[in-house]
Amino acid sequence: MKSITEIVKQTEFSDEDIVRLLAITDPTEAEILRQAAYDRATHTVGNNVYYRGLIEFSNICTLDCRYCGIRKSNHAVPRYELDKETIVNAALWAATNHYGSICLQSGERRDPKFIAFVTDVLKTIHEKTVSPELPNGLGITLSLGEQSFEVYKQWAQASGNPIGLRYLLRFETSNPKLFDHLHHAPGREKALQRRYQALADLRRAGYQVGSGVMIGIPGQTLQDLCQDIRTFQKLDLDMIGMGPYITSEGGDMLGEGMMEEKALMRLSLNMIATTRLVIPDINIAAATALHALEENGREKGILHGCNVIMPNITPRIVRKNYQLYANKPFIEQEPSDTNLYLQQSIQKTGRTVALNVLGSSKHWKLRTGL
Ligand code: 5AD
Repeated sequence: MKSITEIVKQTEFSDEDIVRLLAITDPTEAEILRQAAYDRATHTVGNNVYYRGLIEFSNICTLDCRYCGIRKSNHAVPRYELDKETIVNAALWAATNHYGSICLQSGERRDPKFIAFVTDVLKTIHEKTVSPELPNGLGITLSLGEQSFEVYKQWAQASGNPIGLRYLLRFETSNPKLFDHLHHAPGREKALQRRYQALADLRRAGYQVGSGVMIGIPGQTLQDLCQDIRTFQKLDLDMIGMGPYITSEGGDMLGEGMMEEKALMRLSLNMIATTRLVIPDINIAAATALHALEENGREKGILHGCNVIMPNITPRIVRKNYQLYANKPFIEQEPSDTNLYLQQSIQKTGRTVALNVLGSSKHWKLRTGL
């Protein structure tokens, strides 16, 4: 049998290799994997970590994903919607603080009013953030769920920055049975194949395409996670964001429990590091959920091959109402606290925060020549 040291040196991996890496629990083997993933990231995508300032502008959601704390049927959470001025001000804060790019996230809505509102906000953010420092304006990542191709095109145009245009849409798990179990709301409002189609549409509409999964979902196996990595490859993704599954009080899965925290952290880091080894030239975000599990969890993500971090710059007054899972961090911090704290902690990982840059993935640059 191959040793872990031999496996991590490879550039091609069998399913068996991948499952071996995902299954690591021994601290010495874990460190071999970590170092290999960190080095592969340095070698392939460099020493930078890129910021995406995250603005969670509304928790109103029309869907009922069972794992999620802001699902439609959770009536315990007060619903909010930031107005245009507040969102634009948060974006300007990001630009002034040298973030090259932001991410707009909200619950999922497809009504014309919402679509027009986002279009208007995007246009204004672009107009107000073009500067000598950011000649193309802020980079924009949208995380607004499944929409039609026409809507993706409309938002792409409104954002005004075709080289800094991205969309995040996780497929959550590539296991169709598990996917249905997570989304078994009336009418099958979400379907895995539709999700894949949406990712293909986003690519056609000109976006850098990001997706990802949750790790440690009740019932998920290491073979499922291996298949998730194969799916990342098949979809030819530019970016990946994935984090541990954490139960949510407002969700509908409390009875199914969650993995023990230490084991969940280990598995999440194994998944991140293995993905970096298998697909070296993509951007991988250190999910905030890592930090919910452990202080400095995101820094551990960076040490295992992540190169993107999404500081929460949502105005504090509404943050407590955007809790997708329990123990979500930074509920009380102002953006500026997060900023200083992050700068210092990222430095400790040996990486540098790259300011005033779009930070597009190398994979996307190679596939488009842009
Ligand atoms: N635990 C971890 N991640 C979650 N998400 C939603 N609910 C949870 C949870 N309970 C993630 C999903 C979604 C993203 C916006 O947040 O993967 O795609």
